[in-house]
Amino acid sequence: MKRLTRRELLAMGRDVSAGLAAGALLPLTGCHHRMEQQSSTRVIVPGLTPLGEGSLKAHALDANLLSGSAVDVHALRMDGRYRGLVAEQCSIIVAENAMKWAALRPAPDVFEFADADYLVDFAEKNDIKLRGHNLVWHLALPSWFKDTVFKGNAQKMLTEHIATVAGRYAGRIHSWDVVNEAIDVNDQRPDGLRKTVWLELIGEDYIEVAFRAARQADPSALLTYNEYGIERDNYASDQKRAQVLLLLRRMKARNVPIDAVGIQSHLPAEALNTSGNYLGVAHFIAEVRAMGLQVFITEMDVSDSAIQGDQRERNRAVAATYSDYLHVVLADPAVKAVLTWGLSGSHSWLNHEQPRVDHSALQPLPFDGEYKTLPAFFAMREAFDGRLASLKNPPAAAVDPWAPFTPRPKTAAKPDDKTPAVKKPVPAPASTLPAMPTTQKN
Ligand code: XIL
Repeated sequence: MKRLTRRELLAMGRDVSAGLAAGALLPLTGCHHRMEQQSSTRVIVPGLTPLGEGSLKAHALDANLLSGSAVDVHALRMDGRYRGLVAEQCSIIVAENAMKWAALRPAPDVFEFADADYLVDFAEKNDIKLRGHNLVWHLALPSWFKDTVFKGNAQKMLTEHIATVAGRYAGRIHSWDVVNEAIDVNDQRPDGLRKTVWLELIGEDYIEVAFRAARQADPSALLTYNEYGIERDNYASDQKRAQVLLLLRRMKARNVPIDAVGIQSHLPAEALNTSGNYLGVAHFIAEVRAMGLQVFITEMDVSDSAIQGDQRERNRAVAATYSDYLHVVLADPAVKAVLTWGLSGSHSWLNHEQPRVDHSALQPLPFDGEYKTLPAFFAMREAFDGRLASLKNPPAAAVDPWAPFTPRPKTAAKPDDKTPAVKKPVPAPASTLPAMPTTQKN
């Protein structure tokens, strides 16, 4: 009899971690330990959210991972069930909007910290780690910004903002997204930098300035560069990954204090008859690891806006994409955290900002509007469960064919030296590239 693959099981709407979750619905006694549930028949009780040992955060912990979500602070204040869901499922959270400039700064000299403070307290009371998002972005700037900030004061405004905000929560933040989305190859600058108001007012140093200010304000937070559009195996992602790597290398060469890279991971659902390989992002992560940096999956959601079929089929396509992507990225030990951009479709930005043309609701996250599990929940959990086994063979950092810039000490090249100062990297032949753990074909 043909054994079904993980992807085929998900496509049928089956929980591929068969048996593993059943214990979650039972009292947490020793005899219901997950390992002993492996062979039992999986019973999904509709309407029950796997708690305790069945939660995403528990499975993530077993895989040496933090797992969590972006959080809507308004919902957190108002909705007790949502608060419970966040506390049960997340070991790490991030403010979806509450720590952005527009939220914190109603007027040039006024800071409004009520929501951010609430979130920091909530995280601490529930023993949840908190990411800070974000200190520098070209979006979510307050409306007064354009009339108030100019070349003469921009750097001071930026460093004071960072000192005030990161300083206020110093010691209480797991990691800060110091700079968000600074690369855009479509802007056609040789350095790949996006043409933003920060670049225009401060110059290309703004990234370095921000990271140094963040380190000074909160020496214990992991300082992160966060980016989107670098996940897929296509030309646009390839180009952008190359420019992000060059930016990271320039930063490392100048000893800019950076600890981690955030890969946002807003993905379209792959059609059910295809499977995403995500080879490019796997190699990107290996390169980032070789630079000594950690990796966080910071904003994952999977949009089914282009998927045909009924809601069940669409949910399965979303789950299969979670599965494919997470199996690839989690095989690298540099990846330390996985956050989705929300927990439930009813709070997802995609339903407001990138809705389906037929206006039916997107379900891009592990829970539905009733906070019931979707197939994506089980896909995430199964990917966490498979992590330790796949970690035994982490992909090696390949020589990066997109990296013509290798910083060298200035003294190395003498004027009469015939050898080129910069050695061209030799791309590894495809056959020596590490095999990525993709869907089993059997
Ligand atoms: C989004 C929020 O989810 C929306 O509510 C808001 O209107 C716009 O910003 N990349 C990021 C996030 O880094 O901050 C964005 O969040 C989603 C894309």
